Amino acid sequence: MHLLHVVGARPNFMKVAPVIRAFRERSDVEQTLVHTGQHYDPNLSDIFFEQLEIPRPDISLEVGSGSHARQTAEIMIRFEEKVLERQPDWVMVYGDINSTVAAALVAAKLGIKVAHVEAGLRSFDRTMPEELNRLVTDQLSDLLLTSSPEAEVNLAKEGVSGEKVQFVGNVMIDTVRYLVDKAQMPDIPGLSGEYALLTMHRPSNVDVPETLLRILTALRDISEKLPIVFPIHPRTKARIAALGGDVPEAPHLIVVDPVGYVESLALQKHAKLVMTDSGGLQEETTALGIPCLTIRENTERPITVTEGTNTLIGTDMDLLRTEVDKILTGNGKAGRIPDNWDGRAAERIVNVMASVSRHI
Ligand code: UD1
Repeated sequence: MHLLHVVGARPNFMKVAPVIRAFRERSDVEQTLVHTGQHYDPNLSDIFFEQLEIPRPDISLEVGSGSHARQTAEIMIRFEEKVLERQPDWVMVYGDINSTVAAALVAAKLGIKVAHVEAGLRSFDRTMPEELNRLVTDQLSDLLLTSSPEAEVNLAKEGVSGEKVQFVGNVMIDTVRYLVDKAQMPDIPGLSGEYALLTMHRPSNVDVPETLLRILTALRDISEKLPIVFPIHPRTKARIAALGGDVPEAPHLIVVDPVGYVESLALQKHAKLVMTDSGGLQEETTALGIPCLTIRENTERPITVTEGTNTLIGTDMDLLRTEVDKILTGNGKAGRIPDNWDGRAAERIVNVMASVSRHI
């Protein structure tokens, strides 16, 4: 069996790593890794390959940034050529980024089977680019590998046959389990004692200047009570720079460059609380038992709210202040670890793929 994995951006890398590692145990499986180059900065890409022990990509498409249409189209054009050359049995795609949907569309049109890891998640918010990517990718996939039970319900409502769906669990948590003991705190100048961790890069939070300013003002107030460490995504950095002199002075909001995977894990593990709009951090904080306040109106990962440590804040900054106070007074949300978030999801993917392949 020849599997061709496609990854492109930061949140894909921690998902592909355990899958490649698990398939390496199988001598009857050939693996090819394609990196589309959607993320190309060393601290958004190379450092993850090193820390997650992902082999060098066999193929780099080097597409870079662009509008959604341009980036997606460029990936499709370059990927089609490579996939025709390699003729894999399966194309495996991960998560919900533009690279995911682009590769799925190319493979499906060529009649090559598509397996989607982290299928069936829905925010029900079609203004999110990722939601459109999820919907299209799942319609095109032959095998839908899910990380939580509600995914199967979502897929059934969209007419996806249950036969194609397999609840394997959360591969991101395989990576958390694999590396959590090695997680080294980075040296953050000016930080001692308790802190909150913040990440924020969604267009809905950072692209509208008024929204961004309102959030930054609330964060400034919160940082007076509890210092905030803020590894900043390039998109957010550019948007804040564009605000110029309007940005509130906040000496305890400690902005640092994006951090690697093990540093991110350590920063989460030792944080008093996490504030984020990332999908990955909502899941990682649930796995680590750290309270998470999500600055979004919705989440495609509701199990982190119903079972885990996550609370949805939306953009109501008074609610954010109240929830931070709750955590600081010892009334933060405790959670449980969802089923199949046990570090063995990749192993289950290997078993499923082996059995599915015998029947086609
Ligand atoms: C992408 C994913 C998002 C994911 C996020 C993680 C889509 C639609 N979005 O969003 O789901 O949560 O990655 O980071 O696929 N840039 C750099 N260096 C890079 C890459 C990008 O500076 O290596 C800058 C560019 O100015 C670019 C901007 O960041 O225009 C946004 O990058 P892009 O890949 O379009 O989307 P992300 O916001 O990173």
